[in-house]
Amino acid sequence: MSTPGRFITAEGIDGAGKTTHLDAGEAWLRAQGHAVLRSREPGGTALAEALRELVLHRPMDALTEALLVFAARRDHLQQVIEPALAAGTWVLCDRFTDATFAYQGHGRGFDAGVLSTLEGWVQQGRQPDLTLWFDADPAVAAARRAAVRAADRFEAEDLAFFHRVRSGYALRASEAPTRFVRIDAGGSPEAVRHAVLSALESHAATR
Ligand code: TYD
Repeated sequence: MSTPGRFITAEGIDGAGKTTHLDAGEAWLRAQGHAVLRSREPGGTALAEALRELVLHRPMDALTEALLVFAARRDHLQQVIEPALAAGTWVLCDRFTDATFAYQGHGRGFDAGVLSTLEGWVQQGRQPDLTLWFDADPAVAAARRAAVRAADRFEAEDLAFFHRVRSGYALRASEAPTRFVRIDAGGSPEAVRHAVLSALESHAATR
């Protein structure tokens, strides 16, 4: 039986730049000889990608939003993440449950206790081994987003929403300090890349 893979997630407010830096992280892990599966949430399976389209573009209340992201997550975990980890593949996932606590919990003001219950049901104890939190100032991230793409339902929210989301991430990070590594996403691209690779290197050296 192979050694299980590691589950690594990337988090942060929209426009923090995590997707670009995940490319470098993936390349580094592959160069170390790891099999890597890159995925994202909501998404990662045909069903979850269909749910993503709804969540990002259809009006709905916060409970519906929370139920849909967890439904997408359940399918993604069962169909993709758990089998990959069991086969020894490292999973690099753009967002996971910390985003639900940050966006639906803090951003929308939805009940964190209900989110914890759903987390327990859906994940059955599964948590990321490492979470790279790309922490950026909401005004800087908004300017980056405006330069590159049209806004979805979340990206269209105001600065106050993203301040709340950021504080949601800060709270999750304080609750799981060994899992989270905070990356200062306001730094130069080289500095951010260096921080990402050194976090991966330190993590890969554990266990
Ligand atoms: P994102 O991952 O930033 O993709 P892209 O770079 O293509 O825009 O977009 C996903 C959006 O979904 C983001 O605004 C955060 C939101 N989201 C939630 O609100 N809750 C969740 O649980 C997840 C996973 C994402």
